[in-house]
Amino acid sequence: MPAPRTVLLTGAAGGLGTLMRDLLPAYGYRLRLLDLRPIDGEPEAIVADLGDKDAVREAVRGVDAIVHLAGISLEAPFEKILRANIEGTYNLYEAAREEGVGRVVFASSNHAVGFTPRPQGDDPLIPVDAPRRPDTFYGLSKSFGEDLAQLYWDKHGLETVSVRIGSCFPEPTSVRMLSVWMSPADGARLFHAALTAENVEHTVVYGSSANTRLWWDLTTARSLGYDPQDDSEPYAEKLIAEQGELDPENIAHAYLGGHFVSDPPIWPY
Ligand SMILES: NC(=O)c1ccc[n+]([C@@H]2O[C@H](COP(=O)([O-])OP(=O)(O)OC[C@H]3O[C@@H](n4cnc5c(N)ncnc54)[C@H](O)[C@@H]3O)[C@@H](O)[C@H]2O)c1
Repeated sequence: MPAPRTVLLTGAAGGLGTLMRDLLPAYGYRLRLLDLRPIDGEPEAIVADLGDKDAVREAVRGVDAIVHLAGISLEAPFEKILRANIEGTYNLYEAAREEGVGRVVFASSNHAVGFTPRPQGDDPLIPVDAPRRPDTFYGLSKSFGEDLAQLYWDKHGLETVSVRIGSCFPEPTSVRMLSVWMSPADGARLFHAALTAENVEHTVVYGSSANTRLWWDLTTARSLGYDPQDDSEPYAEKLIAEQGELDPENIAHAYLGGHFVSDPPIWPY
């Protein structure tokens, strides 16, 4: 596959989309932006719902690859998740197949495996082929997206890297995030690796920085050429002083998915 140049960025108005709009152009990509919401200062951004098949097909026409971030990023009633994350992702893949787009980078989530007990002490890191154990309807939709990606590779030769993102924010803000944080710069490094690695077929990777307190295995991500440069450890002393260590007896601290297993944050609209 020749290196992609024009990339459709869905969910471009969101938190991660905003970070990637800033960071990905430095890797040489020309971004085409799509979101439900208009984006300040981006008059050419496509304002469309993933449910609008015609608009989605038009949006993917002529791009070399897609970074698919759009969707509900928290827990929500099943019907809403169904429409935005399950049908929406299906519409995007169908459009990509019809328009001959060769590669998708899918923003999956650690919540696809959120009910996996987190490693403690000398426990081994969680491998990418650990059984999926979604912690929410949201996590279930990410599990669906990974299966959809596999189907579109096996049946149609459309490649995907599914990135099970931990938490991609400018700084870690909780003790859990010390383990799952992905700095924005490492996020861009990983998306670039996922866009350019050869012969990925459908590859699932965890998305985080090289954190000292990492819970999962980055070997597969590294095999794509990802070389994370950041570590959350400089934030550890302050966060632990403020919040205390994670308590394994607390259900919200016992699993990869953190508080999504017990009291997930709810999508606001
Ligand atoms: N930020 C993280 O740390 C993190 C962690 C794990 C997974 N993810 C995944 O990465 C993606 C981006 O995350 P984020 O934090 O930027 O979320 P976000 O909620 O800030 O952004 C999501 C964007 O998708 C758009 N959107 C929602 N439904 C849509 C639809 N039907 N059609 C078109 N656009 C729609 C929203 O308007 C929003 O701008 C999401 O898929 C999320 O599940 C993010």
